[in-house]
Parts: sequence; C-alpha cells; structure tokens
Amino acid sequence: MENTNFEVVFEDKLQRNEMIEPKDWMPDNYRKHLIRQISQHAHSEIIGMLPEGNWISRAPSLRAKMVLLAKVQDEGGHGLYLYTAAETLGISRDELLDALHTGKAKYSSIFNYPTLTWADIGAVGWLVDGAAIMNQVMLQRTSYGPYSRAMIRICKEESFHQRQGYEIMCHLAFGTPAQKQMAQDALNRWWWPTLMMFGPTDDKSPNSANAVKWKIKRESNDQLRQRFVNQTISQTEYLGLTIPDKDLKWNEERQAYDFGTPDWTEFENVIKGNGPCNKERITARVKAHTEGAWVREAAQAFADKRKESAVAA
Ligand code: 3HC
Repeated sequence: MENTNFEVVFEDKLQRNEMIEPKDWMPDNYRKHLIRQISQHAHSEIIGMLPEGNWISRAPSLRAKMVLLAKVQDEGGHGLYLYTAAETLGISRDELLDALHTGKAKYSSIFNYPTLTWADIGAVGWLVDGAAIMNQVMLQRTSYGPYSRAMIRICKEESFHQRQGYEIMCHLAFGTPAQKQMAQDALNRWWWPTLMMFGPTDDKSPNSANAVKWKIKRESNDQLRQRFVNQTISQTEYLGLTIPDKDLKWNEERQAYDFGTPDWTEFENVIKGNGPCNKERITARVKAHTEGAWVREAAQAFADKRKESAVAA
C-alpha cells in the first residue's frame, strides 16, 4: 500500500477514536513523539521513588512506613508498565535508561525538589500525585493502545497515593500548632512546583499541537492545571491551610479560580538540570542501576537456561 493509503487508514482510525496498536502503520513523528513522552513518563515514575524512598526508614509509625513502602513500590511498577509500553514502539530498555542516565531524556521537574520533613511526604502524595491523576486520567483516552492500557492500570493505584498523602496532611493540620506549621511550610514549598508539573502554558508548548492532533493529549496543559487548582482549593480550606498565591481568587464569571503565574524561569532552570536535587537524583539513579546489574545478569542467565532446556527438550 502507498504511504498515502497508510496515512489515510491511520487518520481514519484516529477519527473513529480507535486505538493505534504496535503493529499498525504510524507516522514516524507520531512514533517519536510517543517514545519521547512515554519514556519521560516512565523516567518520572522511577526517579519519583527517590524523594519518597528517603523517608521509608524515617516514617513516624510502622503503619506510615508500610503505606509509604507500598506507594514507592507502586511507582516502580508504574515505571515498568510505561517502559514496556515504550518498548512496543521499537526502542530497547537499555536505550531508554541510557537516555535518562546521560541526561538526554527528561523526567518530571517536580522530583528535583527536596523532601525536607514528613509533611513533604504528605504534600507530595496530596499535590504531586493529585496532579499526576489529573493528567493520567486524561491519558487513559490517549490514542496509543499500550499507553492507554498502562494508564488505566496506573490510575487504579494513583487515588490510593493521593489519599495517603492527604491523610498525612490531615494528621498534621489537625495536630499541634507545630505540626500544622509543618504542613503549611510543605504546602508553601510544593504548591508552585506542582503547578509547573503540568508543563509550560499552552502558547509556549511546542509539542501540544501534534499531541492534540494525534489525540495523544485530550486536554491541554493549561486546562489540566486549571482543573487541579479548582479541585485543590476546597481540600486546602478543609485543612485550614493557605495557598501561597496572593492572586488566587474565585472568578464568578469563569466559574473557576484565577491564580498567579508560576516562575517559568525556575521551571526552565530545573528542566535544564539546575534544580535543587537534579544531580543527586541522577547520581542515585545511576548508582542503583550499576549496583543492580548482577540481578539483571542473573535473570538473563536463568532465562537463557530455560530457553536452552526448552530447545533441548
Ligand atoms: N518536567 C520536565 N519536563 C517538562 C515538564 C515537567 N513538568 N513539562 C514539560 N516538560 C518538557 C517537555 O518534555 C518538553 O520537552 P521535550 O520536548 O524535550 O520532551 C518541553 O518541556 C515542552 O513541553 P510540552 O508541553 O511541549 O511537552 P508535552 O506536550 O510533552 O507536555 C507533559 C508535557 C504534560 C508533561 C506531557 O509530556 C505528559 O503528559 N507526560 C505524561 C505525564 C507525565 O510525564 N507526568 C510526569 C509525572 S509522573 C508522576 O508524577 C508519577 C506519580 O505517580 C507521582
């Protein structure tokens, strides 16, 4: 079939909201766009384990430790689903991880901030996972089959992640004055970096036009950011905490909150590698990968043996 006919079939599938599957013809740029986005999503899950993992040994109770351990393990699994989805596009796990370890690939800016107190673990679960849910629920309807199915699986676990964070914030906000101040300090540290998580404003988002055309994104960065703000204010009010944004106010006409502008210079700096923890995160990630080589080699040797005995039988 001529390329043009393949394109017609591809466009027709998109129009009919049918999933594009790995064996389907797809434009090279569609494939490249997905490899970029899905792999960076996977990197974010794996790197996201680090700031929370630092607190597993310092959780304030056995229950808190168990809950955080379960969440961090979930994030590792989310990374595996997403790496597997990316591999269906014809790229190897080694290539994906090499891009992360050498700084060629990005991961979410939010994980380059330090988790200074236990309240930060609450704020990360409540705000960061809350923002991730906003984005990932939308991505369940993405046009690429393996990505959509990975999102459906991941979203089932994300609400537990958000709830465990909010529960920590409730304990602190309704605790002693010192605990409430800890919660407010964490909110002050994490509010603006969380808004940046959704990406640059739509007019400054070079990938969005294609993402919308190919139905990879079903809503824009700004739409998701706005929905996150609208949804989070009442939760903050329940906690008795204050959003650190003097421009935040309800807009009756828009039926939405107006809010201030994130510091996009800070955002650009962080994604260029100059955030508070970028170097620490990649160093820890490369160290874990290097020290885990023996596990990968043992698993490969076992798989090779199994294959040999299956052939011999
Ligand atoms: N951190 C790092 N880089 C970011 C970013 C962020 N928060 N937001 C945007 N960028 C980068 C983009 O990757 C792009 O750079 P690239 O072309 O080199 O990849 C550039 O900034 C311009 O941004 P665009 O809006 O044009 O890019 P996209 O159309 O890809 O939109 C996105 C950015 C909304 C993050 C989109 O890629 C997306 O939806 N990704 C999937 C969701 C995801 O990755 N979430 C990360 C968090 S996962 C998580 O939180 C785990 C949870 O369990 C805690």
